Amino acid sequence: MRGIAKAFFFTAIVYGALGLMLGLHMGMSKDHTQMPTHAHIMLIGWVSFAIFGFFYWFFGDTVPRWLGMLHFALAQISLPVLIVALWALFAGQPQFDPMAGIASIVYLASFLVFGAAALIGLRSQG
Ligand code: HEM
Ligand code: HEM
Repeated sequence: MRGIAKAFFFTAIVYGALGLMLGLHMGMSKDHTQMPTHAHIMLIGWVSFAIFGFFYWFFGDTVPRWLGMLHFALAQISLPVLIVALWALFAGQPQFDPMAGIASIVYLASFLVFGAAALIGLRSQG
């Protein structure tokens, strides 16, 4: 499962760079309307994905492969959709609400799959 670990870490760095650029833009322009978008890119994209990367690097071999793949796929599909929806919502486009809702539910599903994978992996460690 080192492949999933590396892939999570790679995407974490991409989201981290994007979120930092948005933070810098917010700071320089003094326009903080996209603060929630910045906060979620940083905390889901950079922090959470990096944590998932560390988890799969150290414990990935104890997790059923299909669970890790399912977690990765659901997380990687839902976050970009959530970011676009948050961006549009905070830019004053309320019609993006359902898109944010669907992305959130898929991200929650990915997190529950991660929870199952982590519990199986950690239990097998005794
Ligand atoms: C280049 C570095 C960064 C810049 C210029 C920057 C800029 C900003 C700005 C301007 C705000 C809005 C503050 C406000 O309106 O009250 C903000 C909020 C936030 N930033 Fe950053 N940021 C940076 C790095 C980070 C990093 C590394 C993280 C997390 C890993 C992070 C997480 C957050 C969070 C969670 C908020 C929301 C805080 C709240 O709810 O009050 N930022 N950032
Ligand atoms: C995936 C589903 C998620 C949705 C739909 C969501 C939605 C929201 C919303 C609507 C706010 C309030 C924004 C505002 O006050 O204008 C918020 C704030 C916040 N969320 Fe999330 N969130 C999600 C997941 C997460 C996760 C997983 C984290 C951390 C890892 C997180 C960290 C934060 C933080 C730090 C704030 C306060 C910063 C701010 O006001 O922008 N969220 N979230």
